[in-house]
Amino acid sequence: MQSLYVGVNKPVDPRNLSDLEKKHIPVITAPQRVKSDEYFDVQVEVGSMIAHPNEYGHFILSIDLYAGEAFLARANLTPVQTAAKAAFTVKLQNPARELLAYCTCNLHGCWVGQRNIVVDA
Ligand SMILES: [Fe+2]
Repeated sequence: MQSLYVGVNKPVDPRNLSDLEKKHIPVITAPQRVKSDEYFDVQVEVGSMIAHPNEYGHFILSIDLYAGEAFLARANLTPVQTAAKAAFTVKLQNPARELLAYCTCNLHGCWVGQRNIVVDA
């Protein structure tokens, strides 16, 4: 088995997630459809399917939000006192996009979650 720290961890079968995947894959909440160039809210949470530990020895370090390959924002987190959850307000210009959220666990590496979004002109 490949180390969890090599590359980005994605679900092996998105319709049948393992417990490790449920703990680490960021879940994106955002409108399915937005207007081009208008701000909208995006929430990203890690551990909403199965709670991820939030203790000094095991926690989520950061949550990054991308539109396709374009970096949008990052939330840096600390253990215990911050939840593995972040809210962003963003706007997109292109006709169709996907939102991607990457999180990093200090013990289990980088994980990605995805959500399709339609951007109307
Ligand atoms: Fe972890």
